[in-house]
Parts: sequence; C-alpha cells; structure tokens
Amino acid sequence: MPPEAFNSRIPGFYNLPLEERRVKILDHSQLSESDLADLSGQAGLNPEEANHMIENVVGMHKLPLGIALNFVVNNRDVLVPMAIEEPSVVAGASYMAKLARAGGGFSVRTSPPEMIGQMQILEVADLYHAESALFSEKDKLLSAAAQVDPVLEKLGGGPRDIEVRQFPDSPVGPFLVLHLVYDVRDAMGANAVNTATERLAPLVESITGGRVHLRILSNLADRRLAYAECRIPSAALAFEGYSGTEVVQGVIEAWAFAAADPYRAATHNKGIMNGVDAVVIATGNDWRAVEAGAHAYAARGGRYTSLSTWGQDAEGNLVGSLEMPMAIGIVGGATKVHPGARAALKLMGIKTAAELAEIIVAVGLAQNLAALRALATEGIQRGHMSLHARQVAIAAGAQGEQINQLAEQLVADKTVRIDRAVEILEKWNQPG
Ligand code: MEV
Repeated sequence: MPPEAFNSRIPGFYNLPLEERRVKILDHSQLSESDLADLSGQAGLNPEEANHMIENVVGMHKLPLGIALNFVVNNRDVLVPMAIEEPSVVAGASYMAKLARAGGGFSVRTSPPEMIGQMQILEVADLYHAESALFSEKDKLLSAAAQVDPVLEKLGGGPRDIEVRQFPDSPVGPFLVLHLVYDVRDAMGANAVNTATERLAPLVESITGGRVHLRILSNLADRRLAYAECRIPSAALAFEGYSGTEVVQGVIEAWAFAAADPYRAATHNKGIMNGVDAVVIATGNDWRAVEAGAHAYAARGGRYTSLSTWGQDAEGNLVGSLEMPMAIGIVGGATKVHPGARAALKLMGIKTAAELAEIIVAVGLAQNLAALRALATEGIQRGHMSLHARQVAIAAGAQGEQINQLAEQLVADKTVRIDRAVEILEKWNQPG
C-alpha cells in the first residue's frame, strides 16, 4: 500500500498490550516485521555498527520509542515515531493531533534547504574594500564552491549566494565574515558546508588579503525554515467543565505570556522541543543542531521570545503557527547507518528532508498546544500524574492488568508515591 493510504487514527491503541500495538503498526504502515524490529529496538543498531559511529564505544543507550497517532500533515495521514524519556509527550501530541484533525490537520511548508557556512576573515586592511572585492569575485567563489561536492551538484544542490558581514569593533581587531549560502538538498549539510568553507579559504585570502580563521557552518539556519499551522474548531477544545471559548482564550493568554517574557518563553519553547527533538532523535538526526537553531531563532529580534503564535479567527477557531529552522537530513550520517532511523523514515513514508522537516514542525506545534491547553485549564500535573502513576506502579512491582489498576488507584487517592503503591499491591496480592 502507498504510505498515503494508511490511517493514523488507531482507536484504543493506548490501552493495547505492547505486542498488539506492534501488530497494529504493521497493519497501519508499510513496515515489514524486520523494519518494525529495527524501529522498536528489538533488532536495529548493534554494537559493531555503533563502534563505527563514535569513539570508545562500549554499548548502546536506549530510549522509549512511542508512536504519535492522529497526525494529518498536508492532507496525509502519518504515524510519527518519537524517542523520548518523558511521560505525557507522546500522548499530548497524539491528542492535539486528533483535535487538529477536526480542522483539517496541519498545513506545512519549508523554505529551500539552504545552510550557511561561515568564514571569519581577520587582518583585513580595509573592511569595505575587502567586502567589495569579495562581491566582485562572487561568481568565481561560487563556481569554486560548486566543485567541492559534485554529487550534491548533480542532485540540484550546491552554492547559491554569498553574504558579507562586518565586525569593526572586536577585541581581536576588525574582521569580516563571509557567508556561503549552500543548498544541501536532503542532507543535514554540515559535511558539505564545512568542506566547502575549508576549500574556499585560500581563494578568500587571496581576494581579501586577510587571514581566514574559522570555517564552519552556522546552526542559526534561518534560511532553512519549516512552518506549520493549524486551525482547531473551538467546540473541539471543550472538555469537562471548560467551554471551547474558554480554552481558546486561555491558550491565547498563555501564548501572550511567552511572547512577552523570556523566562516563560524558554519553558514554552522547551515544550515545543519536547515534540521536535523526539522525532529528530527517532530519525537519527542531530538534535543539538536543531536545538541551537531553534533558540537562536527565537532571539533573532534581539529579545528571546516564543517560536509559536496563537490567536483566533473570525469564527472563534483557535489558530496556531510555528516557524523555526530545521537542519535535518535523510541521507548521510546516522540517518543512513542506524537501522531504527531508516525504519522511522519508512514508517512516515518520507522521501525528502523537507517532508521530514514539515512533520517535525507539525509535532512541535501539537506539543506546544498540549502544554498550553493543560496549563490554561486543569494544570500540567494531572495528565503527568496519570502517566507517572503507571511508572510508579511498575516500579512497585505491578504486572499486566495490575499496572493500570494500581495507577488509577494512586491517582484517585491523589497519592502517587512508591511506598503507597507497594502497600496497595501487597494488600491486593495477599493470599485468600
Ligand atoms: C514540560 O516538559 C514542558 C512544559 O513545561 C511546556 C510549557 O510549560 O509550555 C509543560
């Protein structure tokens, strides 16, 4: 079946035993049993492969891998793999994706996959003169850069432009920074860009008469943006004692707090990154790069602020959007050698890095809404507590059916503590 034929709604998935969940994923995706084993860590990356990825390997670190349901991204249903240790995140994303589904799901887009390579040029006699010399030799610089990666060039990528920035008042003397704008297509791009900037250094020195010092990509990938928006009917947001209008208003007020205050914005954006990072990690991408890009972009106006916006339309629907840099790839690096990462891409039917970026930013927006909706209504602890209670129940020794029963009891008693869990379990399991 083509990936677009699969439905990302799987009612009751949450309550199924682990093995039955795996069967459902096989039914709802193009994964084979061996892909699923790679994705879920039953097979997948082995120590031999890991040994070729980093240094001093002694083994592998594991994280839970959950599947976020209900996502519709540009009219396509998609099951989203999330690797994360924090409870509530996968459930939150799935629930908000279900609400967004009522309004058509997430509309997403990306800008061209252009990364920036930076070259610091010190000891320049005249900054203006050197800058104009670089622009006069722009064609020469771009064609030299184009020769660095013929494969990328053949795939339609390659150098696109140069930019020059002046730093006249630095403690190490005035310097120039040359930006090489490089279309990296489906790669994350660090290797291509770093190689290109290193190769260009002698040419740049001869053009400017200066000394090229650092040559490295910028993680503020502000030319490689991903954008998601959603529109949620106010009625879909009503729950328990809260009307849809109250929830819409509460979410907008919560967003306004993050928009105004960097202390709140840091936490608000962390909530977005809960979703973003979990997919970035599941697909073997560099989450530190995405984190760095996100927070630098959030401060681009000179004051750190919210990456998302929330408001309402004329009909009172809740309207949200998220724009952020998304330097991820689907070729090269861990994305290629990690079997679990490959299976994660297959699960989502990903063909280009742009498609992956679009799904990630949709998950970030869903995650943000999950947090704001909870914070603006019942508070974050209630949802957290029921999931946390399951972990406490397992830690107390509950097995099978008893895990959920014990968790429910702990939440009902409003005492989610290990000593209480052990006590209840002992009572339940007393013979006779
Ligand atoms: C917790 O991991 C994330 C939240 O703090 C995000 C937020 O406050 O918006 C709940």
